[in-house]
Amino acid sequence: MKPPIEGGRGLSTRLRTAKGRTTASQKWLERQLNDPYVRAAKAAGWRSRAAFKILELDEKYKLFRPNQRVVDLGAAPGGWTQVAVQRVGDSGKVVGLDLLPMDEIPGATLLQGDFQDDAVEQAVLEALDGPADLVLSDMAPNTTGHNATDHLRILGLIELALDFAGKVLTPGGAFVAKAFQGGTERELLNRMKRDFASVKHAKPPASRKGSAEMYVVAQGFRGEGFRG
Ligand SMILES: C[S@@+](CC[C@H](N)C(=O)[O-])C[C@H]1O[C@@H](n2cnc3c(N)ncnc32)[C@H](O)[C@@H]1O
Repeated sequence: MKPPIEGGRGLSTRLRTAKGRTTASQKWLERQLNDPYVRAAKAAGWRSRAAFKILELDEKYKLFRPNQRVVDLGAAPGGWTQVAVQRVGDSGKVVGLDLLPMDEIPGATLLQGDFQDDAVEQAVLEALDGPADLVLSDMAPNTTGHNATDHLRILGLIELALDFAGKVLTPGGAFVAKAFQGGTERELLNRMKRDFASVKHAKPPASRKGSAEMYVVAQGFRGEGFRG
């Protein structure tokens, strides 16, 4: 997918005054104001610019089909869930989960809680009401600034999301998770390669160039998965 066309004059905006703002928040605000994806998301009614990341991954890997059951882990504010609802259509099912509350998205079941909590996992399974075709995770743990700790936390989250995917996916299903530069650890990657026919790392154009963020896309689930 081509980057969205810039709206307006296409000129970059510089804020005239930084009064009351820290340098970091000033930079963030300028980046938001000058980001074509932010503008395009607003124009298209997506709740986040992140919506473009899953649209671009879908364009490349053909993730969505009508009628699918989709779980979106770490869904707030809801861009990916909106895209999933649109793509699976009325006969599909989309369950979005986040620690944070989310405004309603017609066509989706939204749950609030920690994905690592057994009761929350159970609630997702109940809402899904059948095997999933696609498990999405855009979850990111809070960073501590300590690189080794952050790296371990991210890997831990992907591993747990993968455990969950192993429980709910239908054979042939797919799993997409946010990873970071360097992709996933060898052991985790080997596990994914064992469980899925194809495992790829991708950085969609909408993922900011300077960020270490990337995604792992695993397709063709080989396991038995969901047992009802
Ligand atoms: C980058 S945002 C997701 C953006 C979303 N894909 C969109 O398109 O709007 C990551 C989300 O993961 C959530 N998250 C992180 N850890 C979580 C956990 N353990 N359980 C549930 N949600 C979690 C955060 O609250 C945050 O809202």
